[in-house]
Amino acid sequence: VFAHVVRAPEDPILGVTVAYNKDSSPVKVNLGVGAYRTEEGKPLVLNVVRRAEQMLVNDTSRVKEYLSITGLADFNKLSAKLIFGADSPAIKENRVTTVQCLSGTGSLRVGAEFLARHYHEHTIYIPQPTWGNHPKIFTLAGLSVKYYRYYDPATRGLDFQGLLDDLTAAPSGAIVLLHACAHNPTGVDPTIDQWEEIRKLMRSKGLLPFFDSAYQGFASGNLDADAQSVRMFVADGGECLAAQSYAKNMGLYGERVGALSIVCKDSNVASKVESQLKMVIRPMYSNPPIHGASIVATILKDRQMYDEWTVELKAMANRIISMRQQLYDAMQARGTSGDWSHIIKQIGMFTFTGLNVEQVSFMTREYHVYMTSDGRISMAGLSSRTVPHLADAMHAAVTR
Ligand code: LMR
Repeated sequence: VFAHVVRAPEDPILGVTVAYNKDSSPVKVNLGVGAYRTEEGKPLVLNVVRRAEQMLVNDTSRVKEYLSITGLADFNKLSAKLIFGADSPAIKENRVTTVQCLSGTGSLRVGAEFLARHYHEHTIYIPQPTWGNHPKIFTLAGLSVKYYRYYDPATRGLDFQGLLDDLTAAPSGAIVLLHACAHNPTGVDPTIDQWEEIRKLMRSKGLLPFFDSAYQGFASGNLDADAQSVRMFVADGGECLAAQSYAKNMGLYGERVGALSIVCKDSNVASKVESQLKMVIRPMYSNPPIHGASIVATILKDRQMYDEWTVELKAMANRIISMRQQLYDAMQARGTSGDWSHIIKQIGMFTFTGLNVEQVSFMTREYHVYMTSDGRISMAGLSSRTVPHLADAMHAAVTR
């Protein structure tokens, strides 16, 4: 009965890892998926995470009962504080509802399902380009996806005027997806002044902000600075949604731990919204898993562990920044034609190189460098050892 099923293509990002795993070359390097690697090219479990896990294991009073539909209460409170700030007026006024979800993707999907059922406008504007999973998540939830201009290939920076023009032309009330920081795939963020202009425009048109915050702490190494865009939209008293992921900033990729917060007008609305979020979650996966959220809550609620986390987070962010400099220097040393300064100007996990599909496939074929076909490279996957090889591959790709 399933013979007619057509084979689906591999995922444009996770499929890169599938191809990489099949390659037996000793020089292969995977710069596809945004996952942090050490200088030795190994996945990293943070020391503070190991310590939190040990504490959880040693605590024999812990049981494996179901969590509530909305997840671990402590985790939800602490997550809201992390993104909105400890003294956020919205938290104090009890007008935020936060539910634990399956990392960033799950949080976006639950938010999208809620909007499709309970929000009057079903059009969501997402940046061009954006993370490959965004359009699928929103479309499958029943929203209609449109794009706003974001990246200018000529400057390899923000197309700010294009962004403003497209949001000005959007129907009032439309939902707008915003990357809170470290835009994926471009590594290009608005400045604070530009965020302020975006905020004013969106509020004047009644556009609903939906933040995707997958890299808090990764852009600048500072958790507060990386949440500033979100906090500006909360400080003005308006509504917004925010999806948080702990995959990158705590290295909890496979634990699938994240949160969706909806900032409402008042506490009564927030509690009704939460009741409807439960109606979305219960038939989808009943309630979320306990382990990852317990790790996060253990770290966030203990001052010393929190500080330890920020030190480890900063070390990851700094290593990525140093990879940017090393790659830039290596391109300069090879005298590769073109301006490569965007490698050091862009921020976060990714560099949007400007390399085209043919150049990328040449690099994969000839140099065993694996990356997404849009020319994005995960700087977090690079090391001092692999930079020269990548620079050779990029040099060959643009000069051939
Ligand atoms: C990425 O963009 O590489 C990450 O967000 C991982 C993923 O799930 O796509």
